[in-house]
Amino acid sequence: MTAQTKALVFGARGMLGSELLRSAPSGVVAVGLARERCDVADREAVRALVRAEKPALLLNATAYTAVDRAEEEPLAAYRANGLGPLNLALAAREHGARLLHVGTDFVFDGSRQPRRPYEEFDAPNPQSTYGRSKHWGEQAVLEVGGSAQVVRTQWLYGPRGRHFIGAILKAAEEKPFLTVVDDQLGCPTYTVDLARALWRIALEGEAGLWHCANSGEASWNTFAARALALTGSAIEARPISTAELARPAARPAYSALACRRLELSLDLRLRPWAEALAEYLADPAEVERLRRGAPPTEVQTEQTRAREARPH
Ligand SMILES: NC(=O)c1ccc[n+]([C@@H]2O[C@H](COP(=O)([O-])OP(=O)(O)OC[C@H]3O[C@@H](n4cnc5c(N)ncnc54)[C@H](OP(=O)(O)O)[C@@H]3O)[C@@H](O)[C@H]2O)c1
Repeated sequence: MTAQTKALVFGARGMLGSELLRSAPSGVVAVGLARERCDVADREAVRALVRAEKPALLLNATAYTAVDRAEEEPLAAYRANGLGPLNLALAAREHGARLLHVGTDFVFDGSRQPRRPYEEFDAPNPQSTYGRSKHWGEQAVLEVGGSAQVVRTQWLYGPRGRHFIGAILKAAEEKPFLTVVDDQLGCPTYTVDLARALWRIALEGEAGLWHCANSGEASWNTFAARALALTGSAIEARPISTAELARPAARPAYSALACRRLELSLDLRLRPWAEALAEYLADPAEVERLRRGAPPTEVQTEQTRAREARPH
C-alpha cells in the first residue's frame, strides 16, 4: 500500500475498535467511526461514506456481542453481524478497497474429539444465534470476495473495554469467593497484541480467512485464577461446570484457535496468553479501574477529529 494509507475503523468505540484506532501504524491515517456516524447495517449510509472518504482499507470491529441476549433478539444480531459485514464488503469491492472483518471462535461447535486447536479451514458449526450471525457475516465477506479478509479471534480483554477480567476483579471486591466455569477452554487474547497483528494482516497479508489469538489455552477458571493471583487477590476462583451456570446461549466447550496462516504467511506468533495478561495487569491504574467497574476512557473518534496515527 502507499505511504499514506487511509483506513476507516468501524466500531471505534468498542473494545477492539478503539485499540485498533490507537495502534494504527505510521503511514496510516486512521479514521474512527462510531455507530452514530455510520450504522453498518444501513447499506446506503455505508456506500455513501466509503464513496466520500475513499479509504484504501476498512477495518470492521463492529458487532452485536451480547451472546445470551442474541437468543431473544436474533434479528438485531443478524442485522449487525450478518448484514453489516455484507454491506462493508460490497462497498469495499465497489471502491477497490480492502476490508478486514473480525470473526469469532463461536462459529465452531467445540465438540471435536480428540481435541486440537481449530484451523482456518475446519468446518464451522455454530451452536448459538450469535455464532450463526457471525458465521453469516464471515461467509458474506468471503463470498463478495475482492481482497477481503476475515480474521477470527477469541476471548478478548484489554484497556478500552468491559470484559471478563474486569468482571472477575470487580466481583472479587464484593464476594468471599467466586465460581467460574472450568469446562470451557479457549485462548484469552489481549486486544493490544491482536490490534497490532490485525494491522499487519491488513497491510501485508493476502485475502481470505485467518485466525489470530494469543498462544496456548486455558479454561475460564484458570484465566480468572491467574488474574486474581497477578493482582494479589486472596479470593478463590472455585470451578463449576457450564451446566451449573445454565446460560441461554450454548458456548463451545473447546475453541482454541490454531493461527496457521499467521505463522506461515507473516511469520508471526502472538505471545503466550499468560505473558500478555501479566503485562496488562502490571498497570495499577487499570487494575483499579477494573476493581471499581469504571468505564474505559472515552475514545476520540472521527466525530471529533481524524488523526494521523503515531508509530508503535
Ligand atoms: N469480545 C470478545 O471476547 C470477542 C471474541 C471473539 C470475537 N470477537 C469479535 O471481535 C470484534 C470486536 O468485538 P468487541 O468485543 O470489541 O465488541 P464491542 O466492545 O461490543 O464493540 C462493538 C462495537 O460495535 C458497535 N456496533 C454494533 N452494531 C453496530 C452497527 N450496526 N453499526 C455500527 N456500529 C455498531 C457497537 O456500538 P454500540 O456500543 O453503540 O452498540 C460497539 O461500539 C467483533 O467482531 C466480535 O464479534 C470478540
